[in-house]
Amino acid sequence: MTDLQTLAKQHLMLHFSDMTLEAEDIPVLVRGDGCHIYDDQGNRYIDGLSGLYCTNLGHSHGEEIGAAAAAQMATLPFTTNWTTAHPPSIDLATKLAELAPDGFERTFFTSGGSESVESAYKMARQWHQANGEHERKKVIARRDAYHGTSLGALSFTGIPVCRTPFEPPAVPTRHVSSTNAYRHHAGHDDAAFTSALLAEIEDVIEFERPETIAMIIMEPVQNAGGSIVPPAGYWDGVREICDKHGILLVSDEVICAYGRIGEWFGAQRLGSQPDMITFAKGLTGAHFSMGGLLMNDKVAEPFLTGRNDYLHGITFGGHPVGSAIALKAIEIMERENVLDNVRSNEPRALELLESLKDIPIVGDVRGLGHFFAIECVKDQDTREPLTEEEAGWLLKDVLSDKLFENGMICRLDDRAEPFVQIAPPLVADIGLFEEITDILRIGLTHAAEQLESGVPA
Ligand SMILES: Cc1ncc(COP(=O)(O)O)c(C=O)c1O
Repeated sequence: MTDLQTLAKQHLMLHFSDMTLEAEDIPVLVRGDGCHIYDDQGNRYIDGLSGLYCTNLGHSHGEEIGAAAAAQMATLPFTTNWTTAHPPSIDLATKLAELAPDGFERTFFTSGGSESVESAYKMARQWHQANGEHERKKVIARRDAYHGTSLGALSFTGIPVCRTPFEPPAVPTRHVSSTNAYRHHAGHDDAAFTSALLAEIEDVIEFERPETIAMIIMEPVQNAGGSIVPPAGYWDGVREICDKHGILLVSDEVICAYGRIGEWFGAQRLGSQPDMITFAKGLTGAHFSMGGLLMNDKVAEPFLTGRNDYLHGITFGGHPVGSAIALKAIEIMERENVLDNVRSNEPRALELLESLKDIPIVGDVRGLGHFFAIECVKDQDTREPLTEEEAGWLLKDVLSDKLFENGMICRLDDRAEPFVQIAPPLVADIGLFEEITDILRIGLTHAAEQLESGVPA
């Protein structure tokens, strides 16, 4: 045991982690280089999940970004966006207005994803109030989706294990189906699948009464549940429903913005028309904790005409150092044509992952950009799911160790159907996807063999 290992076990409370730590060491990661990270024993791993979908530029731009941070610290380390402004957040908001979909001119900055999501809800509430609609408090979100852990955002998160201990939710929320087509009876037919999903949303709205619904929140590609891509026509249909019932539509792009699915914003990739876009993670390539909320002109209007003050603020929202870092990260993304890289890798990356379908537990393979998942099954032909016990054992005790041993960190999740998720930095080349596929082949083949022999008693 190293000193760091002992100290980590004594003093750190890890996030979402089993803290019965006697048996297993905590990986202590000390250094990054390109798309790889190294532990304190000198072992090298592919950063197969970009940290948590955020080290989008990999680990080789720290000096350049650090110089921008240092310059800002020397000039003005901190001032707020509470009634005042400063050049870095002005420049960043201006840049985002240039990159965002048409009609999105204004950003409210936060320190991360959950705060961005809560900011969207508070803005929606106040927007409706300014329009005389004080009853609109409820939210529609999707099952299995993750929108954060602070109590407001957690209300929208549709993962029972995250929500149940904290019920009742702070915000009244109804959850509708995700767009996972794999086992849906109409999943093979986009048009039929879309109309079934939209009918469900309409049904919930009618039941709850349209005049009580403030907003619908959904990700362009839903992370939890495994990189779930919407069927054609889905977002247009949701937009129509929102217009019909006076509901605001929020695209939660905490993961999907800043190139993860090949465009600056997920809405651009899907051609969707939300009213607000929440973001965080990739904005700074994870060199600073920063997020925000972009709003369209319709949403901004009551706050600009004196009908409302936005009654919300966060000390470090729009932090000058964070803003300088974000501007530099965006400059690097533009200079290195990161969006082109993601778009050109996507088809081959998907083909590589699909090639794993000869392994008996590989079910659905899906995703966009650099954001893929492999749903694991018990039987490929019948799509029979693994039992909860099988899934937990296979992912946590078998596959996770095998992938790690072979030099890859990615995500294995069994909170909905079990899946392996691959989301490497946006600067990764196709060679990295080839390496990832090779490691997955070793791990998934081993897992399939283990499953064949049965879950140990
Ligand atoms: C879609 C989405 N929304 C919100 C969040 C919450 O972000 P944070 O962890 O920065 O609070 C996440 C985090 O993964 C996310 O994926």
